[in-house]
Amino acid sequence: MKTLIIGTGYVGLVTGACFASLGHQVVCVDKDVRKIEMLQTGRMPIYELGLTELVQEQLAAGRLRFGLDASACPEAEIALIAVGTPPLPNGEANLAHVFAVVEQLGQTLPTGAVIGTKSTVPVGTAVRISEHLKGMGRGDLKVVSIPEFLREGSAIEDTLHPYRLVFGVQDGESATILERLHEGLQAPMVVCDTQTAEMIKYASNAFLATKISFINEIANICERVDADVSQVAHGMGLDPRIGSSFLKAGLGYGGSCFPKDTRALVSIAGHVDYDFELLRSVVAVNQRQRLEPVHRLREWFGSLAGIKVTLLGVTFKPGTDDIRESPAVDVAEALLDEGAQVQFYDPVAPVVGVQGAEFGVSHDVYESLLGADAAVLVTEWPELLELDWQRARLRMKQPFVFDGRNVLDPLVLQNAGYTFANIGHKSRTFAPMPM
Ligand code: UDX
Repeated sequence: MKTLIIGTGYVGLVTGACFASLGHQVVCVDKDVRKIEMLQTGRMPIYELGLTELVQEQLAAGRLRFGLDASACPEAEIALIAVGTPPLPNGEANLAHVFAVVEQLGQTLPTGAVIGTKSTVPVGTAVRISEHLKGMGRGDLKVVSIPEFLREGSAIEDTLHPYRLVFGVQDGESATILERLHEGLQAPMVVCDTQTAEMIKYASNAFLATKISFINEIANICERVDADVSQVAHGMGLDPRIGSSFLKAGLGYGGSCFPKDTRALVSIAGHVDYDFELLRSVVAVNQRQRLEPVHRLREWFGSLAGIKVTLLGVTFKPGTDDIRESPAVDVAEALLDEGAQVQFYDPVAPVVGVQGAEFGVSHDVYESLLGADAAVLVTEWPELLELDWQRARLRMKQPFVFDGRNVLDPLVLQNAGYTFANIGHKSRTFAPMPM
């Protein structure tokens, strides 16, 4: 199928490359000239596992092209909107980019084409798009909602092997077109109206975020009653009604989706006079959880003024270069506010913006620990799991480590002479083994 994708962020680019690999003729467009120039020569504007290879392969096969606007594919049978929906100050998604694209598509798409939203949009957006198009005299265009469920770092795998396909449609013909577009993918299909599809996306992300905040609260209680949250999560997860995923206690969720989508759903509920109390708490717990390392450092050091802290990991999770809503930024801000000095390590992120200033990020973990009074593991990069802690200790001024993701073995750290703390385990701080 001739497929147009508008927006070459994580969602648009990965979706475009994957649909091309399924045999469709795909044109991905973006108004960012720099991005398009990079993509046309097979270079990626984002870091995503396997994407460079997939895009280069599809470019070479002639199934994938790049352009600057919808006019690059005037014969498109389907156009997917994958532009940003950044949050407004009140938490609501800003649809300005989406409607600018709709306006453009209304002028360029051939009769009877389908427009689909891939971006996460408020419930009712597809209906609003249909009305907008009717107002433009383009009532012939069909509007569908096909939410994405891809995770950064495994976006290609998630697109080609999805847990489910959700097709929100307003007519039967659109469902058939969507089936053709997804031919070759093996997954249960949910065909529903567009509002329901839009809600499935928000409810899924909100539920996963709820699991994370839930286990983080359990972790905080575990510490106070001498229980072990990792074992609690394991024990809970063995019940298939609960499931073991998204029960890792830590510094909470970040990234481009969960923080934005949870706030947006609270706001969507508010618009229909419903107080989504549970989700408001999930958001508040997540915000509070991020600052856990700061409380622990304060508990240990007393005042943080003049203390040098290395944050190990800057991205919101491993396997991505994305710093959006990363706990590292909030931790750094709080530390700076208390007079601490902060230095950063990350294997991928080159710089990080904190309080309006840009900080350099070291790619050499041992160098980043030089003179540090404490290290906080924020992102569980595999490199950090294999660190030589004896060697690291020689770099640090004081051997204090806080593991914000529960991935380090307390015994290894204790044996290497560290004062060690993590989340949700017995003894809030482990003293080093006597030498
Ligand atoms: C998420 C959804 O998984 C995906 O379906 C949706 O389309 C986009 O949002 P992503 O943001 O890439 O994907 O990250 P994900 O791997 O889901 O993790 C989200 C956050 O939750 C990360 O900050 C991660 O560190 C945190 N997390 C995850 C936990 O703190 N504990 C867990 O057990 C799982």
